[in-house]
Amino acid sequence: MHIKRAALFLLFLPTVSSAQKIIGGPFVTMQVRGTATITWIVQDSEATVQQSGSTTPAKVYPALHTEKTTLTGLAPNSRYDYTVANGALKGSFKTPPAANAPDTPVRFIVYGDTRTRHDVHRRVMEQLVKAGAPDFVIDNGDQVENGYDAALWPIFFDIERELLRQTVYFPALGNHERNSSYYFELLQQRSGYYSFDWGNMHFSILNTDKPAFSTLAKERDALWDEEVRWLEQDLLEHQDATWRFVGGHHPPMSAVARRQEGNPHITALMPLFEKYKVQATFWGHDHNYQHYLQKGIHYFTSGGGGAPLYDVDKPPAGITQKVASVENFIQIEVHGSAIHIKVTAIDGSTLDEVDLKAK
Ligand SMILES: [Fe+2]
Repeated sequence: MHIKRAALFLLFLPTVSSAQKIIGGPFVTMQVRGTATITWIVQDSEATVQQSGSTTPAKVYPALHTEKTTLTGLAPNSRYDYTVANGALKGSFKTPPAANAPDTPVRFIVYGDTRTRHDVHRRVMEQLVKAGAPDFVIDNGDQVENGYDAALWPIFFDIERELLRQTVYFPALGNHERNSSYYFELLQQRSGYYSFDWGNMHFSILNTDKPAFSTLAKERDALWDEEVRWLEQDLLEHQDATWRFVGGHHPPMSAVARRQEGNPHITALMPLFEKYKVQATFWGHDHNYQHYLQKGIHYFTSGGGGAPLYDVDKPPAGITQKVASVENFIQIEVHGSAIHIKVTAIDGSTLDEVDLKAK
């Protein structure tokens, strides 16, 4: 009798469709030194949602999960090829040079603010991929319009597919991610801020979105103070690196008149950058290109990944090197103590070029 009842119950259990599909990746992240995590994003099922009584079409929200595997024991400065999902998808990545091989050439790309105008995001990615697979990329945030919207991440991953499967991905958290758990889960991030080494370079990536830290002002301040203490210690302990770079989403200065006083907590970090001999910083949030030089530090803003362009109507006097309201990305070629930076606009033209020499 018991068994019969159980069988009857099972008969009416809804079954989950087996229509799984890979909607993102594969891509590689390196959140822990000496490891590489290959991730791909799987859509298991979906929710179809419509306002009651509405005649507008229902919206489909995917149920997503990440599949991943972490590799250790990798050789330095080596390219690895991989396949995932029983060989269905292929990717490759290169490991960082050994610390004692500072002259190994490295090429990386900085870009960001890909969150809207998907057709423009796609065109920027086409130019970026055409430039050749970089050793790694830094995505300075605002990957999607709203980090909580599950329907937006498959679009992001679709447009970024070709880039992501041939490089290593280091993201920063933008305000549009809204501190969403999707950012951390899908992009395999342990914390909103972190640092990493690549050859003779040290990178400190900040979580600049202080308003999203907490609903409580006191807690926001305490968390930001903790992050700034971490940054100072991180820079202090990496004074032996040839290059020190800081990245994040909100920039310390702006050529957009209505945004000039926008991020005082980042502007307040500039004395720290000077004290610990940071040579260049990379930001997003302003949807254009901006390059400043102040007290020997280059400040680059590249928010040109697809979000609607902003004017550069009030470039700060005395420090402005170049500003342009155009979609763009930054390529950085490193040869030991010499760096060549080339900024490319969406049409493939060169927007800016800079040579840096480490002292
Ligand atoms: Fe932003």
